[in-house]
Amino acid sequence: MSPDATPDSPHQPAADRYDHLPYRRAGASGLDLPAFSFGLWQKFGTDHPYGTQRDIVLRAFDLGITHFDNANRYGPPHRAAERFFGQVLRRDLAPYRDELILSTKAGNPIGSSPYQRGASRKSLLTSLEHSLRDLGTDYVDIFYSHSPDPTTPLEETVCALASAVTSGKALYAGISNYPVERAHEAAVLLREAGVPLLVHQPRYSLFDRRPERDGLIELAAQDGFGLVVYSPLAQGLLTDKYLTGTVPESARARNSVFLSPNVIDDTYRERTTALDALARERGQSLAQLALQWVLRLPQVTSALIGASSTWQLDHNVRALDFPPLTEEELTLMDTYGVHGTALQG
Ligand SMILES: NC(=O)c1ccc[n+]([C@@H]2O[C@H](COP(=O)([O-])OP(=O)(O)OC[C@H]3O[C@@H](n4cnc5c(N)ncnc54)[C@H](OP(=O)(O)O)[C@@H]3O)[C@@H](O)[C@H]2O)c1
Repeated sequence: MSPDATPDSPHQPAADRYDHLPYRRAGASGLDLPAFSFGLWQKFGTDHPYGTQRDIVLRAFDLGITHFDNANRYGPPHRAAERFFGQVLRRDLAPYRDELILSTKAGNPIGSSPYQRGASRKSLLTSLEHSLRDLGTDYVDIFYSHSPDPTTPLEETVCALASAVTSGKALYAGISNYPVERAHEAAVLLREAGVPLLVHQPRYSLFDRRPERDGLIELAAQDGFGLVVYSPLAQGLLTDKYLTGTVPESARARNSVFLSPNVIDDTYRERTTALDALARERGQSLAQLALQWVLRLPQVTSALIGASSTWQLDHNVRALDFPPLTEEELTLMDTYGVHGTALQG
């Protein structure tokens, strides 16, 4: 079948799909999430073949990844990733909707209208309606405020998230990219509204250690929310694909405005080479080591990964098949996992 063709028959999910991954409790809630969640930020727009995208999503489900993360912005164009996922849901996964945790986000700019940006009630709730139509579902499991919006009162944003939940259009509320103090305020306000904050979605990896530095990890434990950490592979930089310094044709650093090849410099190579050597000693890959590292913390409920092939998914979800990291190994990783390495944005 050509990658663009629409499959004739729906996918039959693997019977052993719950045998691969641990499921971890999100903070003080009653909800378990898979140790790996799958995000549709890149390569799920109309510029990539439907068949390839469908294979990746269905492989993720077969591997026990029940949580799929979306946003109104994901494409290109904006909203294309949700429309794509809606097709897969309709054709393949509708019978399994109860087994899926679907999330979406709103608040980052998606157009020129004043209501297509920011965390106002109007922006968040109209976007949620649109996402539900595109996804073809009555509810999402988690609805996020994508980013803090200093121009909107936090009370208004929190009230909109709480309304999404009380109206049944979302089961849980989340926030993303909120700095620690605003995250705490949001958690307090949401609790007062009777809708406890389920999860915060920050960027976290060996090269972006802000959640450790600014106290977000401790806050998650204190306020009882989970962390769903995004870009745990630093968009592919924490894999062996850039180790030689050359950028493969198909790699994100060649094809995405979000990752410049200029970050692949001598410092980056020195640090990843040392981390790669440790991974090899442990019998795993650098990608697996980097994923195992973010999941060492109980506050990290799930590592939110992307993938451009089913091979990457198969490989990455085996990250927890290796012995736990020792204190000595963690110390070595601190030496080379330096905050700010190859970071942009
Ligand atoms: N809340 C937010 O503001 C926010 C922001 C960003 C992301 N997110 C969420 O987080 C999700 C994941 O982000 P991400 O895609 O940056 O995560 P990531 O897991 O750090 O990077 C994934 C990319 O790394 C490469 N890769 C993965 N495994 C590999 C392997 N074993 N060997 C070689 N290369 C490998 C692939 O890129 P190539 O093969 O194309 O090079 C893949 O697409 C997004 O989809 C989105 O849901 C949220």
